[in-house]
Amino acid sequence: MGLLTGLLWSCTSSTSGPDAAASGTESTVQTGGSSTSAGGDAGGDAAGGSAAQGGAGAADPSGGTGGSGAGDSAAGGGNQTNAGGSGGTDDATSGGTGGEGTGGADTGCTPNGDSQNLAERYANCFPIGAAVDSQSYTTHAALLKAHFNSVTAENEMKFESLQRTEGNFSYDAADRIVNFAVANNMKVRGHALVWHSQNPSWLFSSGGGAVSKQVLLSRMKNHISNVVRHFKGKIYAWDVVNEAIMEDGSYRGGNLPDGQNSRWYEILGESYIAEAFKYAHEADPDAKLFYNDFYNYIPAKQQGIYNMLKGLLDQGVPVHGVGLQAHFNIEPSTVTTNQAYHQHVANLEEAIKLYSSLGLEVQVTELDISLYIPGVTYNPSTFYTTATFTDDLKAKQAARYREFFELFRKYGSAITGVTFWGIADDNTWLSEFSSGRKDFPLLFDVDHRPKPAFDAVMDF
Ligand code: G3I
Repeated sequence: MGLLTGLLWSCTSSTSGPDAAASGTESTVQTGGSSTSAGGDAGGDAAGGSAAQGGAGAADPSGGTGGSGAGDSAAGGGNQTNAGGSGGTDDATSGGTGGEGTGGADTGCTPNGDSQNLAERYANCFPIGAAVDSQSYTTHAALLKAHFNSVTAENEMKFESLQRTEGNFSYDAADRIVNFAVANNMKVRGHALVWHSQNPSWLFSSGGGAVSKQVLLSRMKNHISNVVRHFKGKIYAWDVVNEAIMEDGSYRGGNLPDGQNSRWYEILGESYIAEAFKYAHEADPDAKLFYNDFYNYIPAKQQGIYNMLKGLLDQGVPVHGVGLQAHFNIEPSTVTTNQAYHQHVANLEEAIKLYSSLGLEVQVTELDISLYIPGVTYNPSTFYTTATFTDDLKAKQAARYREFFELFRKYGSAITGVTFWGIADDNTWLSEFSSGRKDFPLLFDVDHRPKPAFDAVMDF
């Protein structure tokens, strides 16, 4: 995991990304789509060397105009059914539209006996994945092999990692991860083909100016075709498009701070999304193709994502699933204008119901639970350490994990994967800020021992 710089930890009213929010860099719900950004990545654009990480949006706290939904009042139901799964048409030629659907009520899933192995325990439910980096798949191999049966490369399959200079694809780091997974019978999720972040600088320019639509489209096609073909048969699911929708449900576009705006959208318009899915499907008709995003618990955002996906499916675009990033916090924010004000299980349940009603699979793709609460100001004296990560706090984090896993089990038919964004607390993107702030968001501690959070998702 790389060092994230520029965390504006003391700013309580900033706008920022999911990850910024997850990192405790408080963020404000955006309703305009034209001021500051949801971010999507505390990391900003590594290619550009931007220091906009974490508190990227903090420069314009005035950008947010308030919450856009009903907070926890948008609860969905508490019944044992989901919205139903209208079923996809699954046309073999076009790649299908949404797969087979969930066929009505979600019957949930029952975990496997008393297995002490996480992936085995959830074998009747969904694969359990972890994001790995070019070191952690070896340094954390024992945990990985014991408890996980799926991996995602945290950075090694992003555009800038695979095609740093035009036409030169470098697969070595990604291949090593994939080979490890194959050798250990693990599934691999590919992350991420088209994103506004972590792109090489050449991608959006040409001859000293902005690239034309036509050239950008052909660069996108070339990248997707090359990459998806390279991993064909080894990667079963791709995050094809990442983070294209803002908190107010509008498309991520221009007029956002550096690193937050989508050059894809600015240059190509919304059609880049459909094109990306078509190119990926052409390159590997067997791969499951996902749209992946954060803050799905915000009512306006989930509706925007739903509308976009429905539009794609109606056009016959081969989309098969939705990824819920799930960078959560130990409790929702009490600040009504903060994105995390909406971070209630019931709101996430609404998203699962909505998306699966389209016949789409749902996967939890980047799960972690930060100790920091959005809307609260932290400084070095209040940053958590292993010493201040008390038993009470561990229990609280465990309870939060438990309520989300109750939800995941309840929707065990619609949900086809749960991936953690890391393996153990000694290696998490949430601790990589130049401020020195540490976080402890995963199921295993810094010494790779199971935490109360592990017990909470195992023992029920
Ligand atoms: O590769 C360079 C390296 O050459 C350089 O020496 C080093 C110095 O800082 O930086 C390295 O790049 C870092 C990169 O991770 C690889 O380690 C970047 O600075 C750093 O910003 C980048 O952070 C990643 C971030 O995405 C970028 O946006 C995090 O590790 C990664 O966990 C995070 O993952 C994202 C998902 O892809 C999408 N959803 C949100 C999630 C969390 O932000």
